[in-house]
Amino acid sequence: MLKFAPMLVLGIESSCDETGIALYDSEAGLLSHTLHSQVAMHAEYGGVVPELASRDHIRRVVPLLREAIAQAGRKLEDIDAVAYTRGPGLAGALLVGCAFAEALALALDKPTIPVHHLEGHLLSPLLSRDPPTFPFVALLVSGGHTQLMRVTGVGKYELLGETLDDAAGEAFDKSAKMLGLPYPGGALLSKLAELGQPGVYELPRPMQHSGDLNFSFSGLKTAVLTLVRDHGDLGSDEFKANAARAFQEAIVEVLVKKSLKALKQTGLKQLVVAGGVGANKQLRSTLDLEAKRKRFRVYYPELEFCTDNGAMIALAGALRLQTGTPSKPAGSFAVQPRWPLMDISG
Ligand code: KG4
Ligand code: ZN
Repeated sequence: MLKFAPMLVLGIESSCDETGIALYDSEAGLLSHTLHSQVAMHAEYGGVVPELASRDHIRRVVPLLREAIAQAGRKLEDIDAVAYTRGPGLAGALLVGCAFAEALALALDKPTIPVHHLEGHLLSPLLSRDPPTFPFVALLVSGGHTQLMRVTGVGKYELLGETLDDAAGEAFDKSAKMLGLPYPGGALLSKLAELGQPGVYELPRPMQHSGDLNFSFSGLKTAVLTLVRDHGDLGSDEFKANAARAFQEAIVEVLVKKSLKALKQTGLKQLVVAGGVGANKQLRSTLDLEAKRKRFRVYYPELEFCTDNGAMIALAGALRLQTGTPSKPAGSFAVQPRWPLMDISG
């Protein structure tokens, strides 16, 4: 077994509308994490306004760092490396985290580790008390991505299937908007769905029988639009709850079926669900039921680590260092707003 010198890694996340900071100790685990969500600020505009996002990251990053350091009971000088989200995400928002991380590391004379945001999500279940072991199948369902992957180790990712159009979270958010819910509607739609009756409306299950592990959600979104146009009474709580339920039933069924197919195809017995949609209760309960029936194990990140956060970036940075990815000297900075995960798979 390889032995590594203990390391304290600072993680900084700023790819979209959450500023997240965390301190991860390679021996003691997560020491602290602080987060500011900009959701309330963007809600007024019905979506993320990139320029406002960047400016808010600038305002938040120093106070959040101070808080994280204080919570951990450590000093800035104790940090061994600074990990930050290099991409994918909003260019301006990424630049704030990157410039801050590089400048801080330069001042502390410590190296940096640029991290892929999706790798952070993928590895986030390893932060939990009962973590999965490699290899596993990962269902990554966030606002920007929907992918099934075979994960055989840190940095060893094989794409099994992905969405051909909208991401699952995007479909949740757009459908929520059509039902008159405020941005970002995913979580609100799922709350509303709990009040709805299943089976009142039937929506399509796109690509369910496509034979591969790809997804498509734009047709489902259009079906919600048609449902609202044909039957819709957005003044009726009952209609909205039943429509939300129909949408959720459809999307959860497709996500679960394809995940089962991926497990079968790979012969693996562990499924990891990561990304914001992984917080969805119906998705979790359906997968838990299938796991009992089909004898596999399903792992989720703690709820607070499903959506964007600094802890997953600090963890990914620490694991990258431990598995031999070299850190780089601080001071040079570049972000990668578009960055396929497969580019970092070795
Ligand atoms: O992973 P994440 O925080 O950001 C990205 O990297 O994209 O995911 C955010 C997405 C949003 O689309 C949000 O509506 C969705 O996750 N989401 C949910 C729930 N909570 C968050 N979707 C369905 N059910 C939820 N409970
Ligand atoms: Zn994310």
